[in-house]
Amino acid sequence: DLHGSSTGTVETGPDRLILIGKEDDIKKSGRVTAKVDGREVVVFYHEGKFHAMDSRCYHEGGALRLGDIEDIGGHACIVCPWHKYVITLETGEGLYEGVDPLEPSPTPQWRSKGVKQRIHKVTVDSGNVYVSPPDFSVKFDSDYFAEKYRKNELNLE
Ligand code: FES
Repeated sequence: DLHGSSTGTVETGPDRLILIGKEDDIKKSGRVTAKVDGREVVVFYHEGKFHAMDSRCYHEGGALRLGDIEDIGGHACIVCPWHKYVITLETGEGLYEGVDPLEPSPTPQWRSKGVKQRIHKVTVDSGNVYVSPPDFSVKFDSDYFAEKYRKNELNLE
């Protein structure tokens, strides 16, 4: 039985996967927005990797799907178009530039506020990209806006 192997078997039930789109299409466009159980999720393809996160910024609900991806402090980050908050694609951590006043010659450094944006597990199987359903036993700041916008029509422009 190959269950649990890395071949990426698509399963049902608790290991249910939600189809987002074709691997090639997302690689070409670089990003796509989709509904995952009614929730707006954005999937990015950046430097050979897929990343998925709640599409509404944890700060005030800005549209992260419209943000630029930048390398900040060695991390690929989405920069929210609303107030320029910085979120790592890999972990959903909010970054801020801070100074440690206890250092002999304080210089601004990027630091983490912790995981603020809910990220979603991405699975690529047979040319299709899937996202796993969210695990609601853990809460994130972005959940508030995901909930607020879930009833609205998805505007893909
Ligand atoms: Fe994203 Fe304010 S809403 S930075």
